[in-house]
Amino acid sequence: MNKTNVSETKKTTMTHMDFLKKFKRFNPLEPSLTILGFFFVSILFITCFFYVDYKGILHSRGTKLFSFHFSSTSPSSPPPIQFLTQKGDNCDVFDGNWVWDETYPLYHSSNCSFLDQGFRCSENGRPDAFYTKWRWQPKDCNLPRFDARKMLENIRNKRLVFVGDSIGRNQWESLLCMLSSAVTNKSSVYEVNGNPITKHTGFLAFKFEDFNCTVEYYRSPFLVVQGRPPHGAPYRVKLTLRVDHMDWTSHRWRDADVLVLNAGHWWNYEKTVKMGCYFQIGEQVKMNMSTEDAFRLSVETVVDWIAREVNRNKTYVLFRTYAPVHFRGGDWNTGGGCHSETLPDLGSVPAISDIHFSTVTNVLSQRASKSHVLNLDLLNITQMSARRKDGHASIYYIGPDKGPASMQRQDCSHWCLPGVPDSWNEILYALLLKRKAFSDRNTTKVSQVIL
Ligand SMILES: *[C@@H]1O[C@H](CO)[C@@H](O)[C@H](O)[C@H]1NC(C)=O
Ligand SMILES: *[C@@H]1O[C@H](CO)[C@@H](O)[C@H](O)[C@H]1NC(C)=O
Ligand SMILES: *[C@@H]1O[C@H](CO)[C@@H](O)[C@H](O)[C@H]1NC(C)=O
Ligand SMILES: *[C@@H]1O[C@H](CO)[C@@H](O)[C@H](O)[C@H]1NC(C)=O
Ligand SMILES: *[C@@H]1O[C@H](CO)[C@@H](O)[C@H](O)[C@H]1NC(C)=O
Ligand SMILES: *[C@@H]1O[C@H](CO)[C@@H](O)[C@H](O)[C@H]1NC(C)=O
Ligand SMILES: *[C@@H]1O[C@H](CO)[C@@H](O)[C@H](O)[C@H]1NC(C)=O
Repeated sequence: MNKTNVSETKKTTMTHMDFLKKFKRFNPLEPSLTILGFFFVSILFITCFFYVDYKGILHSRGTKLFSFHFSSTSPSSPPPIQFLTQKGDNCDVFDGNWVWDETYPLYHSSNCSFLDQGFRCSENGRPDAFYTKWRWQPKDCNLPRFDARKMLENIRNKRLVFVGDSIGRNQWESLLCMLSSAVTNKSSVYEVNGNPITKHTGFLAFKFEDFNCTVEYYRSPFLVVQGRPPHGAPYRVKLTLRVDHMDWTSHRWRDADVLVLNAGHWWNYEKTVKMGCYFQIGEQVKMNMSTEDAFRLSVETVVDWIAREVNRNKTYVLFRTYAPVHFRGGDWNTGGGCHSETLPDLGSVPAISDIHFSTVTNVLSQRASKSHVLNLDLLNITQMSARRKDGHASIYYIGPDKGPASMQRQDCSHWCLPGVPDSWNEILYALLLKRKAFSDRNTTKVSQVIL
């Protein structure tokens, strides 16, 4: 008796049930009963196909039916304005919706060697591939279609650096796959020190030889220094975070041409104070400082560091905002899950009131009003990603040989690849081209218009 097959079948069945359930819930436009009826008959019809030939449906007529239905939730015709033209200057590319697009994904994980196993959801047994088929569509303009060659040309002779936690790594690996899809000689893309992609390396730099550029990742989940406590600190202080001091590795990324920072997922009580990691200012350990206050101080330290130490004529700095998590029925360590999510929230979602998001935007607006003119953009992806509860690795973060993950230990923080971080990178791509378009127009205050 083949155990794997049984559980596969069970999984597929579950997905179908959930799928139907989801459809009942997601109906932002609340159409008349007739339409609703038609809708469900169609869904049943699709589901039949789905059972008969899952692959076929994604690539043939099933997709057409899908796009027909989903089109009711997206603009019937795309906005005529292109983001890269002058008319697109005031377009907020982070305000929009997810639309079904048969031409996605931009790459397949099986063809990309730069991915941690934990992000290879399809290869790890995730039965639905819908999560790979959504394109981000801003409300008021169109983004340029991602063109890997064009992006590589744009960063020729340059360094593009991601610094942050493992969600930053998630985005970095996504970009490696997106870019290498345009490179035929795969051995011309390599880690400069010959290090493999494994979870716990301090930094990794991939070179695209034909373009003499590197796409790098530095692990620095707090962005500020984490280290041993000062002499004489109370015994329970095992480590401290020096919220007034940039990470010691910052000199290595200060001179990057494009610098994408992120932080947030480690700034909580569980991963700091509870582990004996307290906050420090100067030589003093602040035993009573809250994680919220400490996070705000660290963001101020980062922003002041950018103002003081980064040559903003050379370096384009972006801060990627907090990527939301989607644990339901518990948290990451208390059995919360997201494995039954197969569709995004296409209707309106309540505004996110995430402390990490608001802290970053508050510090930035304070600093901006203090006339620090920063060459700094927000990669304001919190809202758009909040709609994508279907995009996480859930129980599909473990290789097929290691068996299914426990339902009690799901990953609803990291994202499947291909998937949501690809869209962040498409926006990053658009912002890079936009800057170029601006400088070609001889405008000096490049990023302020976008921010
Ligand atoms: C980020 O994007 C959301 C969605 O478009 C918007 O509501 C919010 O105002 C933006 N925040 C900032 C600081 O740009
Ligand atoms: C992987 O790449 C090869 C050629 O480079 C292509 O023929 C194949 O279709 C790709 N596989 C997927 C799943 O995209
Ligand atoms: C490659 O790029 C580096 C900057 O990252 C530059 O210093 C060097 O001159 C470039 N090499 C060539 C051959 O263009
Ligand atoms: C592919 O790249 C490698 C590494 O640069 C190089 O040694 C090899 O000659 C290249 N192969 C082809 C067919 O260009
Ligand atoms: C820290 O908080 C505790 C209890 O809330 C209080 O007794 C103590 O005085 C505080 N210490 C400092 C340095 O504020
Ligand atoms: C940046 O460019 C401006 C104008 O070209 C120049 O005045 C300024 O000195 C430059 N700053 C640095 C740090 O190179
Ligand atoms: C930008 O400035 C340069 C010289 O400073 C000039 O040659 C060029 O025509 C200008 N480009 C535009 C689009 O105005």
